[in-house]
Amino acid sequence: MSTSFRLPNVLGLAVLLCAGTAWAADPPDAAATAFSGCSECHDTVAAAFASNPHARTAANPGDRAICESCHGDGTAHAAEGDATLIKVPKGSAGAGTCMSCHQGGIGASVSGRGAHSTAGVTCGECHVVHATDPTEPALLRTRGSEACMSCHPDAAHQFGRPYAHKLGDNAMTCASCHDPHGGRGEKSVKQTRAGELVCVGCHTDKRGPFVYPHVNDVAGDCMTCHQPHGSVNEKRLTRSRVDQLCLECHTGTPGTFGSQPPSLHDMRSPRYQNCTTCHTAVHGSNSSPLLLK
Ligand code: HEC
Ligand code: HEC
Ligand code: HEC
Ligand code: HEC
Ligand code: HEC
Ligand code: HEC
Ligand code: HEC
Ligand code: HEC
Ligand code: HEC
Ligand code: HEC
Repeated sequence: MSTSFRLPNVLGLAVLLCAGTAWAADPPDAAATAFSGCSECHDTVAAAFASNPHARTAANPGDRAICESCHGDGTAHAAEGDATLIKVPKGSAGAGTCMSCHQGGIGASVSGRGAHSTAGVTCGECHVVHATDPTEPALLRTRGSEACMSCHPDAAHQFGRPYAHKLGDNAMTCASCHDPHGGRGEKSVKQTRAGELVCVGCHTDKRGPFVYPHVNDVAGDCMTCHQPHGSVNEKRLTRSRVDQLCLECHTGTPGTFGSQPPSLHDMRSPRYQNCTTCHTAVHGSNSSPLLLK
């Protein structure tokens, strides 16, 4: 037997294998059989659902029990086509249906304590189960940060400042720093596994531990000196001049907790006003107790 005979056979097998899973690649055909009992009247919804992550939740991906896991028993509704006889999981009651399965993953952070669930901002504000494109990450209503920005115009505005983290489809989103479902951190700010601020997950060089630490508890946390969303000041600082920032603490006056700069510092001289030209290791140093390198 020559290879020219074998080759078509191999291809034939491949075609057969594909045909076995064609329901996924070929929704119109699938709609005829899948979700039977619902698809007869809801063909478009059912066809689109074949590629929804929720369609993987049963042994048979076309089982109408999947529809019923959210909509409840649809027997009476299917018999009559009466919209009042079927449940739609919306609002806080609907969130309960979602949570019956999602308790484990996002559960700990949403179960009644997150700022959003407390304020009545429920799953459907951000997610669309019947997404037009079910391959959208996390079935989000809008990509990236748009949904967040529409409800939080102040935060959105801050990202428009000259020195800000750049938000974008493939870059940072609000959810890079915030857990939309709540979470342990204050203001729903995410934390690393070790419980540190999310910032050091990306800015790893600021994490330490340093032999001579300055940030991370000594001089407050990142937000003591930086505005996380954006700032009119370079390096996103909270103050327009670095010396003003440092002298919030380093005055020697009782009530402030930093040491006083030594007298060699002439604070009126522009040379000394730019503290970080000399104290370059402002986040912490492994060699200079005075943070000079
Ligand atoms: C005999 C036809 C028929 C079958 C079968 C059927 N439905 Fe419906 N369904 C309807 C009609 C008609 C409506 C009302 C449509 C409208 O108001 O636009 C509806 C509405 C709905 C709604 C929206 C209810 C609302 O309050 O807005 C849901 C959810 C729904 N169906 C789910 C299902 C599920 C799940 C199944 C399978 C268990 C199913 N349907 C089977 C005819 C059917
Ligand atoms: C993971 C939960 C979930 C599953 C599974 C689910 N749905 Fe829905 N469905 C919803 C939610 C939530 C809404 C309300 C949508 C909204 O308000 O945007 C909805 C709305 C609907 C509607 C009315 C609105 C519309 O889009 O026409 C129909 C009809 C419907 N679903 C049918 C189905 C069918 C048929 C299945 C199975 C193929 C199914 N659903 C599976 C959660 C689900
Ligand atoms: C019957 C159990 C069940 C119910 C009820 C349920 N889900 Fe899911 N959900 C799942 C499973 C399983 C997955 C797939 C997880 C995976 O693929 O890793 C999933 C995935 C998701 C995803 C992630 C999709 C992705 O791209 O990763 C979102 C968002 C989601 N569900 C939201 C909801 C919402 C909102 C509701 C209520 C309207 C809901 N779910 C109800 C079981 C459920
Ligand atoms: C304020 C908007 C918002 C609300 C409200 C919300 N989510 Fe999400 N959800 C998101 C975002 C954004 C993501 C993507 C997470 C990310 O990128 O870190 C997500 C991700 C998910 C995922 C995928 C797993 C994961 O953690 O990445 C599931 C499942 C999910 N949400 C379910 C739910 C359920 C169930 C509810 C209601 C109880 C809900 N969400 C409420 C915005 C929201
Ligand atoms: C680089 C990380 C980061 C990103 C990205 C981010 N935030 Fe924040 N956000 C924070 C931190 C940190 C705080 C807490 C500020 C504080 O404690 O001073 C905060 C606070 C908030 C607050 C509470 C404000 C208040 O005064 O109570 C809201 C609302 C908020 N962010 C919304 C958003 C929205 C919407 C987006 C996207 C447009 C976003 N954030 C993106 C880090 C971030
Ligand atoms: C439908 C409107 C709505 C959407 C969409 C929305 N939020 Fe909110 N958010 C609220 C409300 C209401 C509160 C509670 C009142 C407040 O703090 O402003 C809140 C609170 C917050 C807080 C303060 C949390 C705290 O613990 O104090 C943060 C941070 C936040 N949202 C971030 C986000 C992010 C990130 C997204 C997108 C994934 C988002 N929000 C989407 C309405 C919304
Ligand atoms: C998801 C990763 C990520 C997280 C989380 C993150 N950052 Fe950033 N940060 C970046 C990237 C990337 C840049 C540079 C590009 C830009 O400006 O957006 C940057 C830039 C900065 C800059 C300006 C650097 C310069 O040279 O001007 C400061 C300051 C900063 N981040 C502080 C923070 C703080 C404070 C937090 C926590 C509230 C934080 N970042 C969280 C990725 C991150
Ligand atoms: C005591 C004030 C202070 C604290 C607290 C602080 N920073 Fe800074 N940071 C500065 C100053 C001042 C600059 C500008 C340095 C310069 O111009 O050389 C800066 C610059 C930066 C830069 C850009 C330049 C670089 O070195 O990469 C990033 C990123 C940054 N900080 C992240 C962080 C993070 C993350 C935290 C929290 C772990 C933090 N900062 C805490 C004062 C501080
Ligand atoms: C939130 C208060 C705070 C801010 C703002 C702050 N520091 Fe500090 N700094 C401290 C504390 C607390 C120490 C540790 C011990 C002490 O000085 O009492 C310290 C230590 C130092 C040291 C080491 C010398 C010593 O006395 O231990 C230098 C140098 C220093 N800071 C410079 C700066 C510079 C430069 C800035 C501005 C970019 C700055 N600091 C901003 C609180 C602050
Ligand atoms: C031209 C370089 C330079 C500049 C600019 C500078 N410093 Fe220093 N700083 C030094 C040197 C060098 C020392 C160590 C002096 C010594 O050992 O006597 C020092 C020491 C310090 C100390 C330690 C005091 C102690 O002994 O505990 C503090 C705090 C300090 N500087 C804060 C600042 C602040 C705040 C600014 C900006 C207003 C600043 N420095 C600007 C060079 C500089």
